[in-house]
Amino acid sequence: MAIDGPAGAGKSTVAKAVAKRLGYRYMDTGAMYRALAWKVMRRGADPSDEGALEGILETTVVDLGADEAVLLDGTDVSGEIRTAEVGQMASRVSGIGIVRRRMADLQRSMGRSGGVVAEGRDMGTVVFPEAEVKIYLDASPETRAQRRFRELAARDPALTLEQTLADVMRRDRRDKERAVAPLRKADDAVLIDSTRLSAAAVVAKILEEVDAKSNENGRIVS
Ligand code: DC
Repeated sequence: MAIDGPAGAGKSTVAKAVAKRLGYRYMDTGAMYRALAWKVMRRGADPSDEGALEGILETTVVDLGADEAVLLDGTDVSGEIRTAEVGQMASRVSGIGIVRRRMADLQRSMGRSGGVVAEGRDMGTVVFPEAEVKIYLDASPETRAQRRFRELAARDPALTLEQTLADVMRRDRRDKERAVAPLRKADDAVLIDSTRLSAAAVVAKILEEVDAKSNENGRIVS
């Protein structure tokens, strides 16, 4: 299953819940870009310098472990990567072709055996175009900023809602306008607007899609 959409649409919350309900693995591809971005920041590398990024990629191992752990060169960086700054840097490095190719290869090899709920920006369009169920999850910019703000404010007391909204909108623009694998709804994806829906309601809608698909394919999943 592929779940795509902009920042703060609620992808992680619902993707985790759906994976749990179906007994599938949850694949957070944004976390992979974030881990690389964090390394780029630590190295002080220029995120638009393809040569520098290629060098870093050659010596970098990004992996998703158990319990949603994000492993960068074997070290758990799950806590470090959840900041607005790392999110912006992830959005920048993810616009570079060589970075996307490397990440997409990794993601395909992780998803090869199926049974995966993959969440990101290009899951349904580029990485898993053959996914059985594709969801494009969206919400108004204000709602998405509020959700992000609630997540980040505890760790960053100086953060304001206005800053968060500007950050979310900047990132969306960059993710949608980049030349390689831009964020867009796949033609065969189901659009869900979560602005006025609880996470539980979104999960229920996705599970309905799964049921509908399995009936179409003559299989009973749940
Ligand atoms: O989902 P997230 O906020 O953790 O993602 C961080 C950035 O990574 C996002 O702004 C764009 C990039 N990204 C991407 O380009 N492709 C993906 N499949 C996932 C994330």
